[in-house]
Amino acid sequence: MDMNWIAIGDINDIPLRGARCVKTPQGKIAVFRTSDNEVFAIEDHCPHKGGPLSQGIVHAKAVTCPLHNWVISLETGKALGADQGEVRTIRVRNEDGTLSIARESLMMAAE
Ligand code: FES
Repeated sequence: MDMNWIAIGDINDIPLRGARCVKTPQGKIAVFRTSDNEVFAIEDHCPHKGGPLSQGIVHAKAVTCPLHNWVISLETGKALGADQGEVRTIRVRNEDGTLSIARESLMMAAE
């Protein structure tokens, strides 16, 4: 088994254009599934005031924070538009729908 990847379940555990929150020792990770069945993971902590991004609305490759509507890119973790801030992105591997996240990018997220 490749120890550098942590299994986080199946793509079908995540609703289309939805997300789930995965708890790790390094904090909560929001794992998103776009309408194109792409999967992204970022810290579940809005760069504005820490809103739970996994409860936001997914559109294209971005999520709108449920608290004050900042829009965060799922690809870069950066706030879009006029807002300034970013969250860490976490590498996700999708093998025939089985998802895992890279341990090393989790460690970076915790720094
Ligand atoms: S906490 Fe996310 S927009 Fe304010």
